Amino acid sequence: MNAISETTAAHGGALINRIVTDEQKTKFLAQADSLPSVELDQRATSDLVMIAIGGFSPIDGFMNKADYQGVVDNMRMADGTVWSVPVTLSVTPEVAAPLKEGSLIRLNDSDGRFIGVLELTEKYTYDKKHEAVNVYRTDEDKHPGVKVVYEQGDINLAGPVWLLERDAHPLFPAYQIDPAASRALFRERGWKTVVGFQTRNPIHRAHEYIIKCALEIVDGLFLHPLVGATKSDDIPADVRMRCYEIMMENYFPQDRVILAINPSAMRYAGPREAIFHALIRKNYGCTHFIVGRDHAGVGDYYGTYDAQEIFSQFTAEELGITPLKFEHAFYCTRTEQMATAKTSPATKEERIHLSGTKVRAMLREGKTPPPQFSRPKVAEELARAMSASV
Ligand code: ADX
Repeated sequence: MNAISETTAAHGGALINRIVTDEQKTKFLAQADSLPSVELDQRATSDLVMIAIGGFSPIDGFMNKADYQGVVDNMRMADGTVWSVPVTLSVTPEVAAPLKEGSLIRLNDSDGRFIGVLELTEKYTYDKKHEAVNVYRTDEDKHPGVKVVYEQGDINLAGPVWLLERDAHPLFPAYQIDPAASRALFRERGWKTVVGFQTRNPIHRAHEYIIKCALEIVDGLFLHPLVGATKSDDIPADVRMRCYEIMMENYFPQDRVILAINPSAMRYAGPREAIFHALIRKNYGCTHFIVGRDHAGVGDYYGTYDAQEIFSQFTAEELGITPLKFEHAFYCTRTEQMATAKTSPATKEERIHLSGTKVRAMLREGKTPPPQFSRPKVAEELARAMSASV
């Protein structure tokens, strides 16, 4: 391992910061009532935040047509930089019609709060089905990511953005560690190699196993659950965060793990999203990124290891973060521990396969996941939270 986090550059070279200065803020606030406004949904709001804090570096705004087309068709922006998932602001033709290219647009959140500004450089139409097939590998509207694309507006608004204020997260302020801060923390701790872990599910033992395998070979772990928009049957972020806290308090070496939230929205784009997730963690300062089975997948849309194989389409230099790939982990009844086919001779019957989907199904049926699925304290918390929610 020779990557050094202190020299891990942000994707594209420099960490983007699009949070306004006090001076800019005063200027924008003075124009608040005269600017045309656009309302952002939950995903666009979190995208604005991710752009502003540098999580999506080198992107400094919503994508123009050339970047969008390059990303959709070739996983590259117009200048060749690797990027796998479109970051767009889609509105209806009625909303787009009065907006003039070259003008400033006031961006409101869904409560009508003035949260950002877009310098509109381009308005363009796009082919939703083409985006679906290329990015999500399906045109079915049953796919939760494709559904969002089909339901969003037909016009993309492009241009650089500014965020007016970096608010503390209403639920998890202590875990809001933005890329500049995580980089500083890694430096402070003297970590030269840091592995990022993406998750949108309550932590289970297969997660713990692959995390700990990775921890054996790097200096630190950046436990980075996604808390932006997810599909409605995913476990809510506050419940998941309590589970990660239980893991931090009981089962992880606290001096080698940092728990922080990833504010972005899930796309469920499987392989494409694995690249996207890796680049985001590179921006937070990670040198390595865990990619397990069916990363960011949903249903049967992707093969078990598609999200690992996609990394071979790029050189190590152009990605700038190393994927740590793990096989499907299971509880092995023969060796009485977590394992994969690489480490256990277990027969099919001796493997208890775990997944977030299975845990969710058990919880819906009012069952507490067994210790082969989840650490008992985590299982108890999940069962308690889920029974309280029905
Ligand atoms: S994801 O949508 O964020 O990928 P999840 O939270 O379930 O979903 O997974 C987090 C990470 O753990 C992903 O890299 C995923 O591939 C990996 N993972 C989940 N379950 C397993 C398992 N049983 N074996 C190996 N890797 C797994």
